Amino acid sequence: MRILIVGNGGREHALLWKLRKDLPSATFFATRPNGGMAPLCQSVDLAPTDTIALAGWAASQRIDLAVIGPEAPLAGGMVDRLIRSGVPAFGPSAAAAKIESSKAYSKRLMTDAGVPTAGFGVFEDLAEAKAFIEEHGAPIVVKASGLAAGKGAVVCMDVDSALESVDSMMGGAFGAAGSTVVVEEFMEGEELSVFALTDGVNAQLLLPSQDHKRIGEGDQGPNTGGMGAYGPVSLATDDLLTSIADTVIKPTLEQMASEDTPFRGLLYAGLMLTPEGPKVVEFNCRFGDPETQVVLPLMATNLLDPMMTIAEGGSLDGGALPSLPGAAVTTVLASDGYPGSYPKGKAITIPSGLEQDDLLVFHAGTKLGDNGLETSGGRVMAVTGIASSFQEAQARSKAGAEAIEFEGKQFRRDIGWREAARQDG
Ligand code: AMP
Ligand code: GLY
Repeated sequence: MRILIVGNGGREHALLWKLRKDLPSATFFATRPNGGMAPLCQSVDLAPTDTIALAGWAASQRIDLAVIGPEAPLAGGMVDRLIRSGVPAFGPSAAAAKIESSKAYSKRLMTDAGVPTAGFGVFEDLAEAKAFIEEHGAPIVVKASGLAAGKGAVVCMDVDSALESVDSMMGGAFGAAGSTVVVEEFMEGEELSVFALTDGVNAQLLLPSQDHKRIGEGDQGPNTGGMGAYGPVSLATDDLLTSIADTVIKPTLEQMASEDTPFRGLLYAGLMLTPEGPKVVEFNCRFGDPETQVVLPLMATNLLDPMMTIAEGGSLDGGALPSLPGAAVTTVLASDGYPGSYPKGKAITIPSGLEQDDLLVFHAGTKLGDNGLETSGGRVMAVTGIASSFQEAQARSKAGAEAIEFEGKQFRRDIGWREAARQDG
């Protein structure tokens, strides 16, 4: 079997790691693999967003399964093209990927499906957006409707900063992604990431996890792509998961199917657990990063089979998938300056023997340079500790993060602090 992974971040390294475990005899390919993926697969020197060339390549190489990691190629129609080229592909069509690539679309969809989410307005006119902000007051959240690499949402604690955000977004700070903005009600609560493998009708829920979006400890500072994650989350009881499946996942899939844009692939619900129950912060059309780096190591079942079923247009059974006992915590190591600009090309040292069955290092912005492993991105790697308890997994991840060295390394030492407080209290 020949499997292509499109993408080269930490999530894709984790997908490669898991699929290799599921089927060691398969031949793996990846687009421009990072320094951790490169030894595990053959490199395809095409950009993930070069959908035409990639589909042609995959067809000519008789790829049996293409797994698309990031949102940009999905939104750009990668899966549509692969399928037209006769290559089974895991991921939604461009039309279904709009659930992530257009927040205006996803809010409309949720409204029509009756899915709980923050109250909102959608604006293409600056003056109208400002009037809405003035009318509703702070705190309030301003979001670019289009794709903005996880940085397009600004939580504003006062009206002036909300007005500034809308000025900057509609003024082109995120390019075309900000020409439409969503302004929405601020929701109070803890966040939860729920991944559902779906054939468009039935959904299999993976272990819920919690991301840490802010750069700084105690959830301070600007939003990032995600600085760490853990699972399981003790707040996410079986009852809560059932309610999320019934009030969020199912109606969303039904609505999309009824509009002739069924979602096949991995639907990621980013939720706020508010006092009134779970509400959707956003949907993503792909696995989360870094949540995947804790969810996949704890998956008790094979991932390849449901992916193949979905890619071939088959049907899944519904329900929650079993997880391994214990816990996983992942800590992201980032370059100095991230989420702003950062240097590249810093030499990375991973102590030999650090990587074990219970300490996994998933590379993101790394590459194998002439002098060995070096940094090549903002988020450099994610260090996942696995243990029988949350506390041990947290300590393992943190110790691994300390042990890896590169100039300017920054990471949060408090990943899982909410869970730690719950378990201590
Ligand atoms: P998004 O890009 O929509 O996922 O938003 C990024 C992050 O901003 C979320 O993970 C939340 O931490 C925060 N956020 C977004 N929308 C809201 C909201 N309505 N209320 C509170 N926080 C939010
Ligand atoms: N960890 C957040 C995301 O993948 O969008």
